[in-house]
Formats: sequence, structure tokens, C-alpha cells
Amino acid sequence: MINFADANILYMERIKLHDKYFKPFISNKEIIEAIEKIALKLNNRYKNRETPIFLAVLNGSFMFAAHLLERLQFNCEISFIRLSSYSGTASTGKVCEVFGLDLSVKGRDVIIIEDIVDTGNTVAELFRILTEKGAEDIGICTLLFKPKAYKKDLKVEYAAISIPNDFIVGFGLDYNELGRQYKDIYVLDES
Ligand code: IMP
Ligand code: MG
Repeated sequence: MINFADANILYMERIKLHDKYFKPFISNKEIIEAIEKIALKLNNRYKNRETPIFLAVLNGSFMFAAHLLERLQFNCEISFIRLSSYSGTASTGKVCEVFGLDLSVKGRDVIIIEDIVDTGNTVAELFRILTEKGAEDIGICTLLFKPKAYKKDLKVEYAAISIPNDFIVGFGLDYNELGRQYKDIYVLDES
């Protein structure tokens, strides 16, 4: 896990999405370094296991999933699921499945790929569904983790970057669907 603070941030600029401003927070360089560390950890853990399945949660995890997967050195499958629990800048607490799992996870190692784990509602719901469907071993992998907001007991074993309880965008994450394309991460600027 790495912490946020980098000189590259000086070269990034404030952005406006809908009605809100966001300021530079985590540079692309820091994000990539954190992903490399997580890939190393996964390579060690899964190199001798039977073909695990990565399950990436859309939309937010698309950039993280691509950068992570290209660094993995063991045979694996990837599939995508869409669950949503968020509207605006605060978690609604409700999780609804929009489109589901079309492959069998029975007896398989599954690794959930999330953009961010906040309260943990989304990941806990997915964990429950996967357990019900007979997954053998379930790992949780997330680019960002808000430990102070997290309310669940499940271990978030592969968390690349821990952040405070702030609202962020970029590198796949959005504010009402805007901001996903930025290569750096920005934080809500209330000043
Ligand atoms: P949780 O269910 O409360 O853990 O929230 C997880 C989902 O909420 C994530 O997959 C994101 O889509 C969204 N989310 C949580 N925090 C943020 C944030 O700071 N920026 C953008 N989306 C967020
Ligand atoms: Mg998400």
C-alpha cells in the first residue's frame, strides 16, 4: 500500500465536473506504482493455483482492471459484472445488480476487482452472491480503499492505495458519470 503525496501533482490542474471542482490528488505515476505492487502480490499468491477468475465491477474498474491484468504472469480469466450503490457523492447503501454473472464460479478461485471500496456494501453483496454460487476462494482487490468508511468484516487483501474519507474522481471513477477518463486522480475541492 502506498500513501498519497507526489511532486507530479504540481503539473496537474483543477477540473470542473457538473457543479463541482476537483483538485489534483494522486498522480498517474503513483497509481501505476501502486498497481505494480498489487500485481506482484497477486503473482506470488496465484502462480500455483488453478486458473482464477477475475471479476471486475463496471463501470469504475475498467482502467484499473486493464493495467492490473497486463501485469499478471499466471493463467487467468476475466469477466465483468455491474452493480450499483452510488448516486452523486454519497453512498445510498442500496446495492442492485444490473447485469449478472454468466459464467460458473463453482469450485473456482475468484478475485473481485473494484475501483474503490468505501462502505463495503458493494463488495460484501458481491461476496455473498459468489459464496452462494459456490466460489471456492474469494479475494478482494481494489485500487482505492477508504478504511475509515469501511463497515464490513471482510478482509480487503489487495488494496493498492488507502485514502481518507474524501470524494475522488479519475482513473475510472466518476462524479455522476463524468471524470472517468482522467489518468490522474482528483479530490473534491470545496474551497
Ligand atoms: P461502497 O459500496 O460504499 O463500498 O461503494 C462502492 C462504490 O461506490 C464504488 O464501486 C464506486 O462506484 C462508488 N464510490 C465510492 N466512493 C467513491 C468516490 O470517492 N468517488 C467515486 N465513486 C465512489
Ligand atoms: Mg464501482
